Amino acid sequence: MKTLVTGAGGMLANDLVTCLSESGYEVLALPHEKLDKTDLGAIRATADGFEPELIINCAAYNKVDEAESEEHQALMVNSFGVQNLCLVCQERDIPLVHFSTDYVFDGTKEAPYTIYDEPNPLGAYGRSKLLGERYVLWLLNKFYLIRTTWLFGTHGRNFIDTMLEIGQRQKKISVVNDQRGCPTWTRHLAEAVVDLIETGRYGVYHITNSEPTTWFNFAQEIFRLSGMDIELVPVTSDQFPTPAKRPLNSVLDPFPLPQLLGREMPTWREGLREYLRQRSKTKK
Ligand SMILES: NC(=O)c1ccc[n+]([C@@H]2O[C@H](COP(=O)([O-])OP(=O)(O)OC[C@H]3O[C@@H](n4cnc5c(N)ncnc54)[C@H](OP(=O)(O)O)[C@@H]3O)[C@@H](O)[C@H]2O)c1
Repeated sequence: MKTLVTGAGGMLANDLVTCLSESGYEVLALPHEKLDKTDLGAIRATADGFEPELIINCAAYNKVDEAESEEHQALMVNSFGVQNLCLVCQERDIPLVHFSTDYVFDGTKEAPYTIYDEPNPLGAYGRSKLLGERYVLWLLNKFYLIRTTWLFGTHGRNFIDTMLEIGQRQKKISVVNDQRGCPTWTRHLAEAVVDLIETGRYGVYHITNSEPTTWFNFAQEIFRLSGMDIELVPVTSDQFPTPAKRPLNSVLDPFPLPQLLGREMPTWREGLREYLRQRSKTKK
């Protein structure tokens, strides 16, 4: 299937393009400098030239804290950029795969968030991603709208890189222990996305690695697997103020993905182990 991937320089896009190519898709993967999704004319021209049968949108404004002071920029990319892609999919009658986030929820629910829970974002980034979701729902009837969380992958900076860097400089590190979520390896996510596309079942999905944890417990496992002796101090979000408030509960209920794919997602521990193996070959 001829597939156009936007935001191809990003972390998830890199693994997704690999998985798509391995599965026989013909992929045109365009990074930001080759295709700006805020430019409707450019998207139309690209689509006219390549004639995709599917568009996968990996492009996003992901600076959660900066979004608080530059909300219009976040909206231009995460909302109106998505509207542009929807319009082109609508004109060509082709499906869109789009990614969203746990940050559309306020994190006050005790149980994992289901696909039928009402979003209520806490900050500007979440609001921009929610409006992007709404354009997909308003404009398209062929789409996979996929919410995911706490991504880590070989082709982008992530929490693991940050921890390992700090661990080189200091032996005692404070890490937040009151936010719960599922760290997710982009390769595992990419494999599930390709499997989902193969089902042809459009809709809203939650795709993350399994077994919720906290940033603190995630950090513990990162240092344990890396053989680094670091003293970790659990702290609360209030002790670590950031411009954007984070949801305390970011856990997403995967229903109905496992029923559809006939398998559970791997655990984040499996993803982390494999990521660290690959990281040792590719990142310094
Ligand atoms: N990372 C996470 O923890 C996380 C969690 C939940 C959901 N998500 C969602 O998952 C998706 C993939 O995330 P990711 O972490 O792989 O993202 P990423 O590594 O930040 O990649 C996003 C890419 O989008 C590009 N981009 C920004 N503005 C653009 C524009 N106007 N036109 C075209 N490209 C543009 C960026 O290029 P430049 O850098 O050159 O601008 C970057 O290469 C996103 O939708 C994100 O919101 C991510």
